[in-house]
Amino acid sequence: MTWAAQPGPQEAFVLSPVFEVVYGGARGGGKTDAALGDFARHAQRYGAGAKGLLVRRHRVALEPTIARARQVFAGPEGGKWVEARSRFDWASGAMLYFRYLDNDADADLYQGHDYSRVYVEELTQFPNPVAVDKLKATLRSAAGTPCAFRATCNPGGPGHAWVKARYIDPGLGEPIAESFRNPFDGTVSELKRQFIPARLADNPALLNNDPGYVARLQQSGSAELVRAWLEGDWNVIQGAFFDGWSNRNIVAPFAIPRHWLRLRAFEWGYAAPFSVGWWAQVAEDTPARPGLTLPRGCLVRYREWYGSTGRPGEGLRLEAEAVARGIVEREAGETVRFAVADPSIFRQDGGASIGERLRRAGVAFRPADNTRVGRAGALSGWDQVRARIAGAEAGPMLAVFDTCRDFIRTVPVLQHDRLRAEDLDTTAEDHIADETRYACLARVMAPKNAAGAATADEVWRREWGGGTRGAGYGVVGWKVS
Ligand SMILES: Nc1ncnc2c1ncn2[C@@H]1O[C@H](COP(=O)(O)OP(=O)(O)OP(=O)(O)O)[C@@H](O)[C@H]1O
Ligand SMILES: [Mg+2]
Repeated sequence: MTWAAQPGPQEAFVLSPVFEVVYGGARGGGKTDAALGDFARHAQRYGAGAKGLLVRRHRVALEPTIARARQVFAGPEGGKWVEARSRFDWASGAMLYFRYLDNDADADLYQGHDYSRVYVEELTQFPNPVAVDKLKATLRSAAGTPCAFRATCNPGGPGHAWVKARYIDPGLGEPIAESFRNPFDGTVSELKRQFIPARLADNPALLNNDPGYVARLQQSGSAELVRAWLEGDWNVIQGAFFDGWSNRNIVAPFAIPRHWLRLRAFEWGYAAPFSVGWWAQVAEDTPARPGLTLPRGCLVRYREWYGSTGRPGEGLRLEAEAVARGIVEREAGETVRFAVADPSIFRQDGGASIGERLRRAGVAFRPADNTRVGRAGALSGWDQVRARIAGAEAGPMLAVFDTCRDFIRTVPVLQHDRLRAEDLDTTAEDHIADETRYACLARVMAPKNAAGAATADEVWRREWGGGTRGAGYGVVGWKVS
C-alpha cells in the first residue's frame, strides 16, 4: 500500500480509536481518500477479519469512489475490484463492499450482516439518521476485530441539521460519550463519537496539483454555500426556511383565557407521523400572564400530539378511530371552535374516507387550504407561516408553548428546497410544518397596506362564513387585527 494519510485531520481520522467518527467539512478536504485509506490499513492489519461496507446515497456518486479506490488499494497485497459482487477482495480474505442506499428501507436488507467497518459517504445526504442507525447494527465481528463506524460529509444537504446537532454542536471537537444499559445483565457501556473538521487547506495533495480547484468551487454554488464548502463552517449555512424563528417564539405555558378562539389543525399520517396541533388566538393586548404580552391575533400552539414512534419519519400506524379517540381525550372540557385538516383525508378510495371515519368517531374537520406557495397578490401558504413567525416589533404572531417539543425539534431546522427555494425541502420531517400551515391559512393575516386586498375579516367570512356550529367546529365572528 502506498497511500499515506496527510498530516492533520486525515491522520486524526485514520488513527482515531473512537467507535463513531464523522469527518466533515470542506469539499475536497480529503475525506473520501481518508475513508479508503482507513480501510486499506484495516485490511492489512486484520486480514480475513476485516469486512467493510461503504455506502452512499446515490449510485452515480459511487463510480468515482470506486475509481479512486482502485488506485488507493493498488499494489501486490492490495484489493482487487470484483465488478459482479461490487466489492474489493484481498488475497488475505479481507473485503470491502460498495453499495448505495437510495431509500431508508434499503437499510433493512443489511439485517443479519456482519461488518467490522461501515463507511457512510455524504452523511448529510440522508434526511434523517434512520437508515444510518440500522447500518450501525451490522457492526459486529465474530473474529474479534474491533468494529467502527466512519462517515464523511459536507455542510448543506437535507441532513445538515441532524448531523450538526448529533456530532458537531455537543462535542466542540472533543469526543462525546453516550451510555447504554444492557437489558440482559444491567451493565452500562459507553460508546463514543467524534467529529473531525475537514478544511481544504489540509489537503495539499489537491491544492498543489490542481490550483484551479478553488475557483471552480466558487462558481458552483451560492456565496454562502461556497464559504461553507471552502472553510467547512457548519454555521455558515443558514438556509433555515423559517429564518425569522427565534427564542421569542417559544413561551412558557399559561392558562388560555376561555374567550380566546381555539382551533385544531391536523395532518394525517399512518406509516408516516400524523400531527395534531391545538392553537389559540390572542384576543387582546393585555398580558397573557405577567411579563408576557403577545400581539393581538397571535396564534399560540398550546398543545400538540405528534403521531410518531420517536424514530424520525416513522408513524404510529393508528387507525382513524384511534386518532379520534386520542383527540377527544386530549381536548376534554375545551371548546374548539373549528378544525382544519389536510384535504386529502376527504378523498374516497372505495370505503369511507379518513375524514369521514374521524367524523363518525366524533372529530370533524374542514378541508384546509392546502396552498403551499404564492397565490397572486396574497400572502399564502408558507408566506403566512413565515410572516407569523417573523412577527412584528410588538412580538411574534406565532408562538408555541415550550411543551410542544416536536414542533421545536422539527420546524425551525427545515431547509429550503434546493430547486424551488420558495418551498421547503419535503424530504425532511415536515408534518408539523404542514399542520401549522393549515392553522395559519385558517387565520390569514392580511398583507399590510395592500390596496384592494381582502381584509383578514373578509377572507374569514368568505372562507368560513357558510359554516355551521357543531360537530366540533363552528363559526364565530372574529377579527384578526
Ligand atoms: N492522502 C492523500 N494522498 C494522495 N492524494 C490525496 C490524499 N488525500 C486526498 N488526496 C487527493 O485529493 C483529492 C480530493 O480528496 P477527496 O476526494 O478525498 O476529498 P473529499 O473531501 O472526499 O471531497 P468531496 O467533498 O468532494 O467528497 C483526491 O482526489 C485525491 O487525489
Ligand atoms: Mg468525498
